[in-house]
Amino acid sequence: MIELTAAEVAAATGGRLSADPDVRVGGPVVVDSRKVVPGALFVALPGEHVDGHDFAPRAVADGATLVLAARELDEPCVVVDDVQTALGELARHVLATLRERGDLRVVAVTGSVGKTTTKDLLGQLLRAEGPTVVPQGSFNNEIGLPLTVLEADGSTRFLVLEMGASGVGHLTYLTRIAPPDVSVVLTVGSAHLGEFGGIEAVARAKAEIVAGLAPGGTAVLNADDLRVAAMADVAPGEVVTFGTIPSADVRAEDLRIDRTGRVAFTLRTRATADGTSADGTTTAGGTTAEAAVTLGLVGEHHVTNALAAATAALRLGVALPDVAARLSDARALSPHRMQVTERADGVTVIDDSYNANPDSMRAALKALAVVAGRDRRSVAVLGEMLELGDDSRVAHDDIGRLVVRLNIKLLVVVGEGAGGIHDGATQEGSWGDETRFVPDVAVAAALLREELREGDVVLVKASNGSGLWRLGDELAAADPAVTSGLSDRAVAPGEPQDGRA
Ligand SMILES: Nc1ncnc2c1ncn2[C@@H]1O[C@H](COP(=O)(O)OP(=O)(O)O)[C@@H](O)[C@H]1O
Ligand SMILES: [Mg+2]
Repeated sequence: MIELTAAEVAAATGGRLSADPDVRVGGPVVVDSRKVVPGALFVALPGEHVDGHDFAPRAVADGATLVLAARELDEPCVVVDDVQTALGELARHVLATLRERGDLRVVAVTGSVGKTTTKDLLGQLLRAEGPTVVPQGSFNNEIGLPLTVLEADGSTRFLVLEMGASGVGHLTYLTRIAPPDVSVVLTVGSAHLGEFGGIEAVARAKAEIVAGLAPGGTAVLNADDLRVAAMADVAPGEVVTFGTIPSADVRAEDLRIDRTGRVAFTLRTRATADGTSADGTTTAGGTTAEAAVTLGLVGEHHVTNALAAATAALRLGVALPDVAARLSDARALSPHRMQVTERADGVTVIDDSYNANPDSMRAALKALAVVAGRDRRSVAVLGEMLELGDDSRVAHDDIGRLVVRLNIKLLVVVGEGAGGIHDGATQEGSWGDETRFVPDVAVAAALLREELREGDVVLVKASNGSGLWRLGDELAAADPAVTSGLSDRAVAPGEPQDGRA
C-alpha cells in the first residue's frame, strides 16, 4: 500500500479522526488482527461470530498504527458510519491516486465459473511484464476486492481483480471502487442461480462489469456464450472477443486433449476491421498470427479461461509468443481445483472439491472420463451443489444421469443434499454396486479405503460447504494407509469464505 497519514484516511473515508493526524499507515490493510504487522491499518469489521472492534487493542499492541472503526475506541482510530463502505472508499481513493501518479492498468474478471482460475492465469501472464497484484484465493467481494486494491503501490503496473456477484448491483459497486481498463466476462451460467432469481438476472448482473469500465476501457467477451457476447451492447468502447467460433478475435483452433486431460491448441489472433489486432499491433491486410499452447491445467473447460486470460494479456501489451509460452507454463495456483495427484499405489486423484455447480460438475466429469480412458476405472465421488434454489433437485438428477452416460464405473454420492445424483443415476440405468450413497465424508472415506485399487482414477467434487475437500486431502495423501482420520479444519486452507459467482 502507499503510505497515508491518519488525516488522509479520515478524508478519504469521510470519517472522524480520533488520532494524531500525522500518524502514518504504511500498510498492509488487514481485517484479521492476526495478520497485523507494524504500520498496519486494522479494519474493525463486524463479523458473524466476533466483532472486529474487540480485537483493536491486540491489533495496536502488535503494531497497527490506526484502526478504521464504527465507534470511538481507546486506540488511535478513524470513526465512520459503516466500516465496509469506508474500506471501499479508501480503496477507491488510493487507486485514483495511484492512477494519477503513473502507469497502472486494472483488469477485472467475472463470470459464473472460472474467475479464480483466470485471474491466476492472468497473474502468470502479466508478472513477467512488471509488478502485478493478484487477489489471494477468491478475494472477490466488497471486502476482498478493496483489500486487494490496497495491496497496490507506486510500483504496481498491473492490478488483477476477481469480481463476484450474488445479485444485481454488486459489480456496479465493485467497479466504482476499481473501474477496470479491461473487463473480462467468462460465462453466464447456472452458479448461484437461486440467489439471483434466473439466468437473465445473472446476465444483467455480470454486464455491470462492462458498463462499469473506465473511460476508454476494453471489454473482453466470450464469443462462445451468447449472453456474454450480447454484453457488447453496453460496452462504452472497444470490444475484443475470444472463443472457439470463427468470428472470435482471439481463437483456440485444432483442440486436442491428451490422456492426462490436458488440452493443446493453436492460439490465433485476427486482425480487426481497422487493421489493429487483438494484441494491439497493426497487422497488414487482415493477416492473422498464431502460436501453439499446451495447457498445464486439467480439463477441456480451461480453454475458455486460458483464452480469456490470453486476450486480456494481449490487450495489455504482452506479445503473442510470450502469452503462448507463459500459458503453457502456467499451473493451477489455488488449491482443490482440478488438482491431480498420482499416488504411489497407482491411483490418480483429481481433487476439484473447491466448488461445484452444474457447469463445473459436467466439465470435471468429462475430464474424468478422458483421463480414465478405456483402460482405467473411473470413480466419481460427488457431493452437494449448494445455492441452486428451486433448480436444485433437477440439477442433481441431471448430473446423476450424465455420470451414467459418460460410463463412469463407480459413483459415490456423499450426503443427503446430493441424493438426487444417486436417484438420477439409478433412473438412468445404473444398478447394483455401480452407484453408492453414503451419508457423510467419514463413511465415504472408509468406503474408498476399501474400494480403491491400482489404476483407478478418482474425481472428488462438491460445493465447498459440503466439506468434500477433506476427502480430497485424505485421498491425495501419498499413502492412505498411514493417514489417520480426516483433518478437522472448518475451512479449506487459504480460502476465505467470500467466494461469489
Ligand atoms: N469454463 C469453465 N467451465 C466449467 N467449469 C469450470 C470452468 N472454469 C473453471 N471451472 C471449474 O469450476 C470450479 C471453480 O473454478 P474457479 O476458477 O475457482 O471459479 P470461480 O472463481 O468462478 O468460482 C472448478 O471446479 C473449476 O474446475
Ligand atoms: Mg473464485
